[in-house]
Amino acid sequence: MFWGELVPKVVLGLRISRTPHRLGFEGNEAASARHPEAARAGRSLRERKPEKRMEVGMQPQLPYAPALKDMAEAAPTFRSGEDVGLSEEVAQALLETKPLKRLAGIGFLGAIDYALRRGSGRDPHRRRHNRREHSIGVARLAEVYALHAGMGGRERRTLVCAALLHDVGHGPLSHTLEPVFKERFGMDHHRMTRAVIEGTTRFGPEIRDVLERCGVGCEEVLALIDGEDIGDHSFLFSAPINIDTLEGISRCRAFLGLGRGPAFGAAVRRWATSGRPPRNDFDDFWLLKDSVYGLAINAPLGRRLDAVAQSYMATCPERFGPDDFLKTGRGFRKAHPDLFRYLEIVPVCGDDLQSRLPRSWLDVDVTVSDRKFFVDDRVDLVDNDDIFARYRQTRDCRSVKLGQLVEGQGYGQ
Ligand SMILES: [Fe+2]
Repeated sequence: MFWGELVPKVVLGLRISRTPHRLGFEGNEAASARHPEAARAGRSLRERKPEKRMEVGMQPQLPYAPALKDMAEAAPTFRSGEDVGLSEEVAQALLETKPLKRLAGIGFLGAIDYALRRGSGRDPHRRRHNRREHSIGVARLAEVYALHAGMGGRERRTLVCAALLHDVGHGPLSHTLEPVFKERFGMDHHRMTRAVIEGTTRFGPEIRDVLERCGVGCEEVLALIDGEDIGDHSFLFSAPINIDTLEGISRCRAFLGLGRGPAFGAAVRRWATSGRPPRNDFDDFWLLKDSVYGLAINAPLGRRLDAVAQSYMATCPERFGPDDFLKTGRGFRKAHPDLFRYLEIVPVCGDDLQSRLPRSWLDVDVTVSDRKFFVDDRVDLVDNDDIFARYRQTRDCRSVKLGQLVEGQGYGQ
């Protein structure tokens, strides 16, 4: 059956061409037969040396590179297999729950994690980062802050639990497919995180039960995560520079392979002890964030991968259901092997990519956003409210066709 006969012209905010294109749904072999380009790409990828993939995928843009290389290295980001290093008993109990274990199977960035994974060495850029590692990293920053700020036991536990749980509702491929899941099923990781914590998903009330047993308020945790907390430390989640983004951006830097990522533990310690944001650390961090967006998230490769994945999902909606959102990356890959074959094509095809994708996809509209981060020097950093005014960003969202991205247009740089 032609997929063009199945989907409306406008699906999920993505405008779809009706140009017919066959898709195979019968499993790996049959799908390979129907998608020879995807199958060929899979073979050629396996034949390549892993290092080559990063060289093809990552071409640092020189204006950004110095900011990444000049930054002093500090403690590396947390990786699986290391001592978790959290002292709160409730944290250990949460890490044993199914939803937190599931996060080990969710890539940290999205499609780019799969396309650029290279080898299994210990170096941060040689292994795929996952959401569980990130969540533990954020919880460690939360605990450092809480201990050095002299927080009481209940407040400290609430903060650490919120940090551990803040991404528990992330779906497969993280941010890559979330726009389509949101359009089609009204799902995003914010809503799913609340549902998982409240116990209304297939995982049941496991997390809520742990929180209650350990004397931590479920609603207090959710308020911190959702930015609705009005307490003295809500800025730790809601400010432009917060413990989540401090950990996540330094993890991205490690992923790029330009030295170990600074984990900002020392900066957070100074922040807690003095009660005043550490200006030099935060200025460096904001510059780092701008660089990471330029090098990875807004870069051509990252955008092409996201757009290809979104085009795939948008053009065969009957293959996807709400249950997909709570799958692990492995389960999702098993359910949608063709999608991952196309993702494997993207980093290795270069200028040939246009001829390797279904022609009709090139007319699919995808939304891209350019984000730039800059420091407003007119605002001094005296207290935590100043973080909102000093660390600024611009965001330009627009719609482009996948074909434009493939041809190197529509990047806004
Ligand atoms: Fe996060």
